[in-house]
Amino acid sequence: MRRAVCPGSFDPVTNGHLDIVGRASRLFDEVIIGVLINQSKTGLFTIDERIEMLREVTAAYGNVRVESFRGLLVDFCRAQQAAVVVKGLRAVSDFDYELQMAQMNIGLAGVETLFMPTNPLYSFLSSSLVKEVAKWGGDVSAHIPDAVGERLAKRLRQT
Ligand code: PNS
Repeated sequence: MRRAVCPGSFDPVTNGHLDIVGRASRLFDEVIIGVLINQSKTGLFTIDERIEMLREVTAAYGNVRVESFRGLLVDFCRAQQAAVVVKGLRAVSDFDYELQMAQMNIGLAGVETLFMPTNPLYSFLSSSLVKEVAKWGGDVSAHIPDAVGERLAKRLRQT
């Protein structure tokens, strides 16, 4: 079975993430979304909330699974029996760091990275930007799934 991992923080998932996951799901038998548990960074959403949202908005794909991981991405890939990581590239500015990580990951464990050009509709999009705009009352409905928008509005009312 050809498996790929789409890793990230997903705090929260955006339409840009979904574009990459959806396209990867057509290329691989199974796609595993790996949500990084990063103890040194507090998110707006807990890991469980991020996973819940991701499961909800990817349910229709049929071959996408959502898991969390801590530590090295290559160890997660090994545990999931996935030889490939799929990453979206929004712009040249993403490339430097992504290339470093891809080269490190192949050196560490032979895990390959496939870069997918982001749909230009989402080339400016990031979870941080969505949170920033939403926090100040901007309309982010075109950039995140409705279910995520509802949770984001609720969370921002609480903070
Ligand atoms: O959505 P993000 O925060 O940009 O995702 C970054 C992520 C999770 C892909 C990256 O930080 C990562 O792979 N972290 C796992 C730790 C690791 O393997 N570090 C070494 C990378 S070479």
